[in-house]
Amino acid sequence: MGNYAEFYRGSIDQRDAFWSEQAKLIDWHQPFEQVLDYSKPPFAKWFVGGQTNLCYNAVDRHLKERAEQKALVYISTETGQEKTYSFRDLYDEVNRFAAVLQSQGVAKGDRVIIYMPMIAEAVFAMLACARIGAIHSVVFGGFAAHSLATRIDDATPKLMVTADAGMRGGKTIPYKHLVDEAIRLSANPPEKVLICHRGLDPDMALVEGRDLDYASLRAEHLNATVEPVWLESSEPSYILYTSGTTGKPKGVQRDTGGYAVALAASMKHIYTGKPGEVMFTSSDIGWVVGHSYIVYGPLIAGMTTIVYEGLPIRPNPAIWWKIVSENKVNIMFTSPTAIRVLKKQPAEYLKKYDVSSLRSLYLAGEPLDEPTARWISDALGANIIDNYWQTETGWPILSAVPEIEDTPRKFGSPSFAAYGFNLKLLHEGTGKEVGTDEKGVLVIVPPLPPGCLSTVWGDDARFLSTYFSSFENELVYTTFDWATQDADGYYFILGRTDDVINVAGHRLGTREIEEAISAHNNIAEVAVVGVHDEIKGQAVMAFAVVKDPSRTSTPEEAALMEKEVMATVDRELGAIARPAKVHFVTLLPKTRSGKLLRRSIQAIAEGRETGDLTTLDDPGALEQIKNAVAKWKAGK
Ligand code: PRX
Repeated sequence: MGNYAEFYRGSIDQRDAFWSEQAKLIDWHQPFEQVLDYSKPPFAKWFVGGQTNLCYNAVDRHLKERAEQKALVYISTETGQEKTYSFRDLYDEVNRFAAVLQSQGVAKGDRVIIYMPMIAEAVFAMLACARIGAIHSVVFGGFAAHSLATRIDDATPKLMVTADAGMRGGKTIPYKHLVDEAIRLSANPPEKVLICHRGLDPDMALVEGRDLDYASLRAEHLNATVEPVWLESSEPSYILYTSGTTGKPKGVQRDTGGYAVALAASMKHIYTGKPGEVMFTSSDIGWVVGHSYIVYGPLIAGMTTIVYEGLPIRPNPAIWWKIVSENKVNIMFTSPTAIRVLKKQPAEYLKKYDVSSLRSLYLAGEPLDEPTARWISDALGANIIDNYWQTETGWPILSAVPEIEDTPRKFGSPSFAAYGFNLKLLHEGTGKEVGTDEKGVLVIVPPLPPGCLSTVWGDDARFLSTYFSSFENELVYTTFDWATQDADGYYFILGRTDDVINVAGHRLGTREIEEAISAHNNIAEVAVVGVHDEIKGQAVMAFAVVKDPSRTSTPEEAALMEKEVMATVDRELGAIARPAKVHFVTLLPKTRSGKLLRRSIQAIAEGRETGDLTTLDDPGALEQIKNAVAKWKAGK
């Protein structure tokens, strides 16, 4: 066992030597000439001149030693299907998929939007894009047509990959239908739509000349081999959209070499996954956790990855432990919300299966509360490792690094800065570093380590203005999270400084939800806030002003109007963003200059003090919020 503090110091003080050593964990087609080009801060180019390929590192390089080992185990409790792919099978499928993409003219640098349920073909599609140097952008299947259209217009894909349908809780969700709708809304639609037909939606309509059937094209390319296209390290591998303060999601752009090295290093040092071992990450490929730790991370590490389509409590709350037991899962990764859901279930489910193969459970995406951490730690007898990061960073900013040193963990804290991350806690107003146990904004001193976003897709100016301009006195990347650090060096994350809501580990923007609600023709104005929720961490709450008050004049009418607003959000953004409650008011609290006082609204909704309200324009507006919340609480 080493000393983590020393390892960490090395990563900062001898940065180039440190990362040059980590870069040996992946295969390079051509070695890099320079570890880091930081001539245009804060833009960082890692492993300059090096050529590599993510798909080659995830698949091809394992053929020599582990061709027959399981690479991907697909389990669907929705359709009852289970299928195993060895590294050789995965190689074959990815080559076929890559050949199909090429046959449709997709080439290096072209964008491909993948809008897919959790099926093995989604992973093949991602790897196939990486293989030919096409830039994939996976959009979470829970996003509705309008959100998808926004992403189509920003990424301007040459082709989209989808399935006829997905399933959730036994209900069919028509994916292809949503894609049709999104393309109708889009200003810049793709030429082709490639469809994996699962036989779930027999009524699926096809558009002549645009829609392609994957199975038939695959059959034409059964024996195809497609040479990996070698990319210069900084060339983009993918775009992943994420929410922030504005209504327009940002395309986080990831490089190739830096990401591959960062993932390989994190698999070794943080997640301790060894070749031949099994990893089960219960996220969705549409989120960053899915990209890094369902698809690329475990495969680069030569592990078996589990791709699970289904809920954690269906057919019963023991399903995950059954998967762990039957597949001898060593490393598991999920969200605190999922564990809180399981905690509500009878304890016997956790005792039904032998889960002794499980070494560690990693939790991320939202704060892990102490009771939940304690409960799952006692129940599983495995290490519980809280790790904190963001779509932007692609891998942990804060975590224990158990392969280097088994540092004691404190419940409620994601431990320390991960190697490579030079962190500071700055006072929001003065920009000065705060003291022990004092609340500050968590920032990263650039250059950002390998694997982090290289820019915002097509918008360098937005990359700078969003992430690097919060503090005047110092060029730093802001995480938009509040945090403290205790005397032992442990960090504690206290929540976002901006208007981002975190529902069940899903990141949603208040502006996005407000815009979706405003699409209803009777909404004049609306404020959306996140309020504490025992299971999901936060829930979405909306306060809306209607244009025609007669439509909310009785409780029955208001309830109807609320339903309509919820349906509008479902349609515009997706059900994940649906407000748990819509209150109707006649006025929203604003400053005299017209800025919405979301923090005060949130405080009232959570029963806290509102703080300084000297800039409030009309106190009556806050009274209305208070009354609405009180009435709602009384009726609950
Ligand atoms: O507020 C932090 C919270 O989730 C945000 C990032 O969300 P996303 O981009 O979806 O990436 C998730 C990757 C795991 C952060 O700004 N967050 C993430 N992990 C934690 C967390 N909050 C507290 N504790 C965590 N472990």
